[in-house]
Amino acid sequence: MTLPNHRCNIGFIGLGVMGKNLALNLADHGYQVAGFDLDKNKVADTLATEAQERPSSITVPRIIGCDSLADLLGKLVKPRVIVLLVPAGNPVDAICDELLASGLEADDIVVDCGNSEWTDTIRREKKYKNQLKFFGTAVSGGEVGARFGPSLMPGGDADSWQYLKPMWEAVAAKVDANGQPLESRIPGQPITEGEPCTAYLGPNGAGHYVKMAHNGIEYADMQLICEAYHLLRSLLGYSPAQIGQLFEQWNLGVLNSYLIEITADILQQVDNKTGAPLVDIILDSAGQKGTGRWTAISATQMGVPAGIINEAVYARALSTLTEQRAHAAQKLTAVTEPTDAQADEIKAHIHDALYCAKICAYAQGFQIMKAAQSEYDWQLNFADIAKIWRGGCIIRASFLQKITAAFTAQPELENLLLADYFAEQLAEKQTGLRQAVVFAAQAGIPTPTFFSALAYFDGYRSEVLPANLLQAQRDYFGAHTYERVDASRGEKFHTNWQQTGRPEVKIST
Ligand code: 6PG
Repeated sequence: MTLPNHRCNIGFIGLGVMGKNLALNLADHGYQVAGFDLDKNKVADTLATEAQERPSSITVPRIIGCDSLADLLGKLVKPRVIVLLVPAGNPVDAICDELLASGLEADDIVVDCGNSEWTDTIRREKKYKNQLKFFGTAVSGGEVGARFGPSLMPGGDADSWQYLKPMWEAVAAKVDANGQPLESRIPGQPITEGEPCTAYLGPNGAGHYVKMAHNGIEYADMQLICEAYHLLRSLLGYSPAQIGQLFEQWNLGVLNSYLIEITADILQQVDNKTGAPLVDIILDSAGQKGTGRWTAISATQMGVPAGIINEAVYARALSTLTEQRAHAAQKLTAVTEPTDAQADEIKAHIHDALYCAKICAYAQGFQIMKAAQSEYDWQLNFADIAKIWRGGCIIRASFLQKITAAFTAQPELENLLLADYFAEQLAEKQTGLRQAVVFAAQAGIPTPTFFSALAYFDGYRSEVLPANLLQAQRDYFGAHTYERVDASRGEKFHTNWQQTGRPEVKIST
């Protein structure tokens, strides 16, 4: 779509990996893009790639480079749409302020496509009200996703969404009627049919919150796969390549997912320098940019049990204690027991453990979002969220189609574990999770997310928990009161635990 006077449909600020690829994706879908980056080399690189990939039927550049923000603003049709792909935090505010100083108008839409904290998005929407329309869109899928179809999680002003919707639906990943990703990796030949992996999620920070929850689940999913690998390697003595081949098989069944697929590939790669499995050459100290931690913090603040996600964050933190772990490995010995289980049995149990724990992790992720919608007054559509995660994003997996079905049938579903399909799956396969935890405990292999998943499953399905004793302890030392099983909910009692006859006092409520 060529516009008069070199006018462009959309502007990009930040042409790093994500900005460049998303800009090329928009260009493939017929949008004229203007791009700016403080680093001129990035602008030049984006223009060069566009020229190289441009279909022969198109004679003019689909991306135009800009020298300044004012130049960028001058090249855009009104209302202007400007996508920011800059580091989360202060740079986002700084650019909005600079855009305003450069002539941005109140109708113009600034879309933050970074991994911003949702509270910042809420704050910015308020801060820039009547000066510009600040809109959030979280992007998942990494470099390839951005180039050929990411999952897009938009949140912000509903009118702005109507304006952005055609563009977002064009560039988002697509899935077929069964929820299977439709993928093309050919520049200039984008997928145009299928259901787009984007949907309006709600006002202000809803999109960034949902992306954060996605990343919390991503952390859990990745750690669970790592624990399955660790168990297989330690218990069976399998090489990384053998485990990679096993994961390839698992990828054909209920565990089918992008993360299992890439892990199978990773485990079969060899280091060029040493010829050793590449995974063995990589230092076991995990990085994190913060989104998983934010999810754990948000869950804890709202009182949502999300132990698997928390443990996934802690596992990364523990892994970074490289020197301490080396020291402790000399000093702290494990008293272990060999297992008499056969290899096939071990593999089957670990497979089922991974599947059950994954269901529990997703259940926790959705519980977090459920709590957040009350906290922030959003009306999240969980079926839509599951739908837009079926393609493009890092956690895309076949079983998201089952989650979509569960929330479509029961939009008010209390917990994913209670959906008939998942309750049946857990009933059938939970032995695997129990056995995997036993193997891990006997062999001294740390599997915190497996343990946490089982504890969550058993805790959630327990009608009776020892929290009665806990309440008694609190009342004993701090007069914190408790409720009685034979009184109405909300009525509070206190016992004078150390007095003869233990007089009980009803506290007026
Ligand atoms: C995605 C990813 C992406 C990024 C994470 C990595 O959905 O595309 O989640 O956003 O890979 O931010 O996060 P960590 O560095 O915290 O692992």
